[in-house]
Amino acid sequence: MAHAYPARTGRHPGWPARLGALRVSVGVVELRPVRLRDGAAWSEIRIRDERNLAPWEPSAPGTWVQRHSIVEWPGRWAALRAAARRGAALPFAITVDRRLVGQVLIGNVVREPLLSAYVGYWCDSRVNGAGVTTAAVALVLDHCFVQVGLHRIEATVRPENGASLRVLEKLGFRREGLFSRYLDVDGAWRDHLCFALTIEELPVGGLAAQLVARGRAERVEGPHGA
Ligand SMILES: CC(C)(COP(=O)(O)OP(=O)(O)OC[C@H]1O[C@@H](n2cnc3c(N)ncnc32)[C@H](O)[C@@H]1OP(=O)(O)O)[C@@H](O)C(=O)NCCC(=O)NCCS
Repeated sequence: MAHAYPARTGRHPGWPARLGALRVSVGVVELRPVRLRDGAAWSEIRIRDERNLAPWEPSAPGTWVQRHSIVEWPGRWAALRAAARRGAALPFAITVDRRLVGQVLIGNVVREPLLSAYVGYWCDSRVNGAGVTTAAVALVLDHCFVQVGLHRIEATVRPENGASLRVLEKLGFRREGLFSRYLDVDGAWRDHLCFALTIEELPVGGLAAQLVARGRAERVEGPHGA
């Protein structure tokens, strides 16, 4: 009997994976699983970029600096790795010229019959505005729709987050509605716009190919070695 979704083998198809590479103005964008030894770079960027990141991220106990000190990373990394092994998440590091600059997290993976997940992302302000996140998310979404076999990816964004809204717009996400008081962010329950993309909406050849065709990125050989 035919199904709307393809038969898949393995507990978590498409993980672990290395994705890329796309060249943008600031360097070569690739993705790989987050690593235990990412802690120093993660902590340095996250503490330096508190003002850019805190307005958009879930509230949590402790100060920002406490929550992003280097000793916090092993626990976070272990939780991400465990979720990935369960098949519930794909926690990617974004690298530019092999240097950590951010993360793309595919979370809340629900398999048949929903085949759905959410995408979240952040990126070092030193390379913002160069198309790094758009390139990274394009590569991850192509992977999720093909190798992972997902049907729908959603993203929720505060209406005030112009840069993130623009990333979703460039990737062709469709606005679905407003979630009132959806998430406790930066100390209060904040409204979020909900966007989604399903496999039927993927451009022919995929999102990365579309970025290349639009002159927003250039395909290069990859993935590069560690
Ligand atoms: C959102 C974020 C990941 C974007 O990263 P990035 O690598 O700069 O993204 P890109 O360069 O691919 O695209 C950003 C786009 O937003 C535009 N932009 C930047 N600030 C903007 C603003 N205030 N209003 C509207 N557009 C804006 C940029 O010009 C660019 O568009 P363009 O290519 O048409 O010029 C980054 O700003 C970030 O980490 N923000 C904090 C964390 C966050 O918001 N995460 C998402 C939560 S939903």
